[in-house]
Amino acid sequence: MGKPENCLVRYSVEMEKVPFPKDQDRVQLGDIPWDDAKKYPLSEEDLFAVEYMADVEANTLYYVRDLIQGGVGHDPVVGKFLSIWLYQETVHGEALRKFLAAYGREISITRQKELHDRMGWRDASHVLLLRIFNRISPHVCAVYLTWGAIQECTTLTGYQRLIQLTSNPVLHEVVRRIAAQEGQHYHFYAGAAQVRIQHPKAKRLVLLALRNFWAPVGQGLKSKAQTRRIMAHLFQGPDGEEAAERVDRMVDRQIGLDDLSLLRGYRESIFNGDSAVSRMAAST
Ligand SMILES: [Fe+2]
Ligand SMILES: [Fe+2]
Repeated sequence: MGKPENCLVRYSVEMEKVPFPKDQDRVQLGDIPWDDAKKYPLSEEDLFAVEYMADVEANTLYYVRDLIQGGVGHDPVVGKFLSIWLYQETVHGEALRKFLAAYGREISITRQKELHDRMGWRDASHVLLLRIFNRISPHVCAVYLTWGAIQECTTLTGYQRLIQLTSNPVLHEVVRRIAAQEGQHYHFYAGAAQVRIQHPKAKRLVLLALRNFWAPVGQGLKSKAQTRRIMAHLFQGPDGEEAAERVDRMVDRQIGLDDLSLLRGYRESIFNGDSAVSRMAAST
């Protein structure tokens, strides 16, 4: 299969051309009218979605730790991206938590530690698995980049759906600013995935991993039932269906994933699949 470093040399020139997020950017929050946040009530499902998103954004620190310790950050372009990405995603988490605090749902300062303590052995297993797979194949980075593109596109679309579903103008503005950066992240991941997936073995590994292990963003940190609950909320109804299909179309066509339709399949499993699972998603 070749060594990972051979892949770094082989694709280095093309990786340099991938659209990069603006590293000086962070979501600016100084002019947000936080005092107005409480004036526009949110449904329980909307609040659940904001809390879920805040937890996942704030968890980027641990995700980047896993990627670096697992050997995925060796590509210099990916390494540079991770440093900017971590900063921007951390600010996204702060922004959502600031909104929640202004709304009256203060998040404990120990929240992230508690979430990680709950993950137990699964937390440590991510690094171990990445290290093992990285020694076996030089194409693990292609899996990470393609996976990242799908998750960023889902996140961007999830934020757009949250704006459609809610009428709180403070939340709209915070989420609109975050979503703009998610678009930049998506373009980086998708561009880099396109480069690394050119190798036929990389493409085979990517498809194998996605078909067997893909789950929506946040699952693992959050429970399966919690992930199903937010996905059922954000991707509900005809507009949700259209949004899910849009994500699939973007990633399948741009990266060349042979009509994987991951989100459509996941959505169908919630709404048309196991009714017991659907009920659990609705009530958790
Ligand atoms: Fe984010
Ligand atoms: Fe992002």
